[in-house]
Amino acid sequence: MIRINKLSILSEKKPILKKINLNIKKGECVALVGGIGSGKSTLLQTISGIIPYGKNFEREGEVLLNGKKVDRIMNKEVFHLFQNPDEQLFCNTVKEEIAFGLKNENAKGVEERVGNALKRLGLENFKDKCPFDLSEGQKQKVMLASMVALEREIILLDEPSSNLDYKTSEEIYLLVKELHEEGKTIIIVEHDTDKIIENIERTILIYEGKKLDDGPSKEVLKKSIMKKAGVKIPWILK
Ligand SMILES: Nc1ncnc2c1ncn2[C@@H]1O[C@H](COP(=O)(O)OP(=O)(O)OP(=O)(O)O)[C@@H](O)[C@H]1O
Ligand SMILES: [Mg+2]
Repeated sequence: MIRINKLSILSEKKPILKKINLNIKKGECVALVGGIGSGKSTLLQTISGIIPYGKNFEREGEVLLNGKKVDRIMNKEVFHLFQNPDEQLFCNTVKEEIAFGLKNENAKGVEERVGNALKRLGLENFKDKCPFDLSEGQKQKVMLASMVALEREIILLDEPSSNLDYKTSEEIYLLVKELHEEGKTIIIVEHDTDKIIENIERTILIYEGKKLDDGPSKEVLKKSIMKKAGVKIPWILK
């Protein structure tokens, strides 16, 4: 589903990602770990086409989704939850925000899909509020409701539970599990490695723009390199 061949990303000739090869099958759920500034968000942005089509970076190598080269922002194939929801929200009400992508593509049953998404994220009481008047965690939930409504095949989540309390982040992982069972292909950037061990089978480690490891979470996350990379070894593997 996602195939990346010798991908490098450069900003003013300075490499941010370095010769990354990656293959993710349809229906896989994968965690992406690495220290701050290691290139995790850049990698997600390259998969969704924001880099280079929405930002001024150079791309070398290729990214293929379902065999097709990424040649624009792939918003019909990919749902990408940004690390900062403020960059993504722009409508006047939560309801409109969730409906926006669907209306844009003349989708059928918009009301129903928005209603279901509001319900699934427990946002019914917020539907007429302005997204910018919500807390950071509530904004994150609004974006996740858009994800549910849009039903994209590929889902990229950049630290989806960073603004959430324990209970809400458990709910989000339950939602991720359901989407995984529905056959979605999912990549999640996550700092909480305990959460990864509980929920995600495969983990990829990025260090200074390079893919350093890729394999079963239980094996990857117990390696001593994690400390150097700034990633916590989950307590269960210590
Ligand atoms: N617009 C930009 N122009 C130039 N360099 C950038 C730009 N955005 C990010 N970078 C650089 O790219 C590198 C990777 O950044 P990226 O945001 O992908 O890291 P990350 O792994 O997501 O970090 P974090 O855990 O802090 O979110 C960093 O060194 C950063 O300084
Ligand atoms: Mg990031």
